[in-house]
Parts: sequence; C-alpha cells; structure tokens
Amino acid sequence: MTVVAIVNQKGGVGKTTLATNLAWSLAQTASVLLLDADPQGSARDWGHFNTSRPENLRYDWLILDCPPGVSNTSADAVRVADVVLIPAKASAFDVWAATDIVAAVKARQQSSNGIPRAAFVITMAKPRTILGRQIDAALAELGLPVLNSRTSDRVAYTHAGNEGTSVIEGPDSTARDEILAIRRELEQLTP
Ligand SMILES: Nc1ncnc2c1ncn2[C@@H]1O[C@H](COP(=O)(O)OP(=O)(O)OP(=O)(O)O)[C@@H](O)[C@H]1O
Ligand SMILES: [Mg+2]
Repeated sequence: MTVVAIVNQKGGVGKTTLATNLAWSLAQTASVLLLDADPQGSARDWGHFNTSRPENLRYDWLILDCPPGVSNTSADAVRVADVVLIPAKASAFDVWAATDIVAAVKARQQSSNGIPRAAFVITMAKPRTILGRQIDAALAELGLPVLNSRTSDRVAYTHAGNEGTSVIEGPDSTARDEILAIRRELEQLTP
C-alpha cells in the first residue's frame, strides 16, 4: 500500500480538491481509501492510524487529506506517508506556510533513506502564468521539488467538489488531463 499525505498548514490551497480528484483517478485502476485526516472530522478513523503505519489495510493507495492549521495531524501524516504532496497556490505565502511540514519531511527523509518522497504541487494557477521570482526563491529556499503538472484555476474543480464527484468524470477535459498528469507524476514519485 502506498500512503500519500496531502498537507499544507495554509487553508484553502486545494488540499481536499487534490485529494479527492487524485483518489478518484487512482480508483479507476486500483483500490483506494481516501481519509479525511482532520481529527475533528474523522476522529475515529484517523486516531486508529496515526500512531503506526497501517500495514494491515488491504488497499493499494491510502490518501490522507490533512486539515489546515497547526496540529499534530500533519506531522503524524508525514510520519506514515510514502509520498507527501504539498499543494500551494502560485504564491510565496503558500510555500512559506509549509515550512514546518518541509522540516518534518526532511528530518524523516534523513533517517529513513529518503522516505517520504515529497513535492510541491502548484494549484489554481492562472492560465499561462509562470512562477514569479518570489515563489521560485521560496521554493528554492525550502529545497523540495515541484511537480511539473499543476491544477489551473478552473470552475470544474469547484463544481465537482460541490457535487461530490471528480473532474475525471466531468465535462472539462483540461481539468481531467491536469489530474491525470499529476497522477502520473505521483506514480513516478512512489518509492
Ligand atoms: N484548481 C482549482 N481551480 C479552481 N478552484 C479550485 C481549484 N482547487 C480548489 N479550488 C477551490 O478552492 C477552494 C479551496 O479548495 P480546497 O477545499 O480543496 O482547499 P483545502 O486546502 O482543502 O482547504 P482547507 O485548508 O480549508 O481544508 C474550494 O472552493 C475549491 O473548490
Ligand atoms: Mg480541506
């Protein structure tokens, strides 16, 4: 089983949107458990997992959608994850908000042979934007890679979220292709 933690302390950066759409995409060919790792949202399920790696689950993928804010949840998720994805809008603030997560990731990488693999995922990008100098500098400072694929700012993501579905099934083929491209990069990152 591959455990993917989707984390950023900053709220509203697209963690849940990425988690649900990636889970939907992966579920086309594999068994997937998507877990709301918010201790308030899902105390029973997450409390069961956050002390040890849930090896006994018979899923191909476990996707952990982490809550915003300062709590132990994200640190717990980093501790059990094989891959950590850090969504950030194309803003240096969203990158800086992940400083603590990045530190936790790097500490574990050093003692666990490079696990978890980790990368930023740019979300809600405006069409044809290139990352600004400030965000490039913030990313360089934190020293984690950035996926080549990103989500752009498209209403299809919000519609899918509101309807409890995914852009994989929806009418916006650009949004679908974005998620499929992120999925491919996730699979390449997977140890
Ligand atoms: N690529 C996108 N294009 C347009 N809107 C998006 C995109 N990704 C997410 N959104 C919208 O942005 C808002 C915040 O997204 P989401 O809930 O996924 O963020 P979050 O990081 O999980 O938030 P929280 O920290 O509160 O859990 C939602 O209204 C969502 O529909
Ligand atoms: Mg969320």
